[in-house]
Amino acid sequence: MTEDKKYDLVIIGGGPGGYTAAVRASQLGMTVACVEKHSRLGGVCLNAGCIPSKALLDSSELYVAASRRLADYGVRAENVSFDVSVMMQRKHRIVEALTGQVRKLLEAGRVEIVTGVAELVDAHHVRVSGVSGEIRNLNTNFILLATGSRPVSLPDGDFDGHHIVDSTGALEFSEVPQHLGVIGGGFIGLELGSVWQRLGSRVTVIEMLPQIASGLDGQISRALKRSLDKQGMAFRLKTRVNRVEISANGVNVAVVSGAAEETLTFDKLLVAVGRKPQTHGIGLESVGIERDGHDAVRINSRFQTNIASIYAAGDIVAGPMLAHKASAEGVAAVENMAGMASEVHYDTLPSVIYTNPEVASVGLTEDQVKERNIPYRAGTFPFTGNGRALCAGDTEGLVKVIAHAKTDRILGIHMIGHGASEMIAEGVMAMEMGASSEDIARTVHSHPTFSETLMAAAASIQRQMSKKS
Ligand code: NAI
Repeated sequence: MTEDKKYDLVIIGGGPGGYTAAVRASQLGMTVACVEKHSRLGGVCLNAGCIPSKALLDSSELYVAASRRLADYGVRAENVSFDVSVMMQRKHRIVEALTGQVRKLLEAGRVEIVTGVAELVDAHHVRVSGVSGEIRNLNTNFILLATGSRPVSLPDGDFDGHHIVDSTGALEFSEVPQHLGVIGGGFIGLELGSVWQRLGSRVTVIEMLPQIASGLDGQISRALKRSLDKQGMAFRLKTRVNRVEISANGVNVAVVSGAAEETLTFDKLLVAVGRKPQTHGIGLESVGIERDGHDAVRINSRFQTNIASIYAAGDIVAGPMLAHKASAEGVAAVENMAGMASEVHYDTLPSVIYTNPEVASVGLTEDQVKERNIPYRAGTFPFTGNGRALCAGDTEGLVKVIAHAKTDRILGIHMIGHGASEMIAEGVMAMEMGASSEDIARTVHSHPTFSETLMAAAASIQRQMSKKS
């Protein structure tokens, strides 16, 4: 084993947390190595998560539009069909292009990309085992842990990659499953369930809680469920999974809701019951890095672990497992190493579910505001009242703005509807700037646009206030 040159920073993990941090560190003048065990950079997000799922969501959505919606617009399209293999090839090209761009970005920043499995040796050394067995020992001032997360499996139903799959497997089906079972009505279950349901699968989502996407504002979650119900997705809420068995017929899932147990049979089963931090095999124990009860690496407000030279960012630390959260933390961690006082504003972290209609939110839900006894006003506006939505034929959904009853400062914005993933950025910016609902209501929006729904929801709070005074 040879002792390498000394780096300012070695990053373990080339996903959104790691590669974004690498670029920022090189801009700050650091010498950086980024270690990634896969040949492609980009982590789960680019290779087996956010990006490929959106590629398939877009393909399947176009199929639905062409086969079922175009006639309403006066457009004739007969004998519309699809080809799963072409959808998969397109998805693959997008992943290749984007991961290639990330590689070029790091190379342009003179970040050394090291392919291999990294393990901490001590506070300043990282051992890397390369693909052909070569070992390197990287000597560094700082280390950033950005190894991400891995899917949680069921106690007795481990992924076999064929019948029982995780999100990666559900992005690779070579044909449309007849009956797809989805355990977990969260982000992954609803997005990937949508892909295959649109292409003809019968999809049944089994969720142990009384509502899907339970972190959402209740009104939005109910609206999403109504919409997915209409599209034909079946839901078994308040339902627990007792056993999972692979049989000649497919996968048998013994579920219980109330007292009775029943068995549901699927030809494929997607298990999407959450993810856990990827903390194994990277030497955390040998260096004594502290973790919390959920196995997440503990960090302070500067993203520093209990070992001063080792920082951590992304899914490996606590908080929502979102790519943009990981990137923001990676950048802030590196800036802290460089002596800057950077932070991530978790109160204004947006989240999006790319179903149709899309769901997007930022800030507190109405239930959270109530639980905290914060005096508030909520204003809503439906997409049916929006001219652009009527023209586009996308009238499903609503926007909700929650503001403090005394100060009018915006506490949360929640929306379901066409373009919500893009529209939420305005809400995030408003909250970042400490805006009031009056600020949004008085901001002139182009007409006709979907974003007028946000202005109108804020204006409805203004009307409530003027009625009071
Ligand atoms: P999730 O936490 O969003 O949803 C998991 C769901 O499974 C929860 O509703 C939970 O109540 C349910 N569940 C757990 N155990 C169960 C059981 N035994 N039986 C039935 N239901 C059960 O996790 P998910 O969907 O696996 O996603 C993992 C992570 O990936 C999330 O943290 C999410 O933020 C992230 N992600 C984000 C996306 C986005 O930003 N659009 C897309 C996909 C994933």
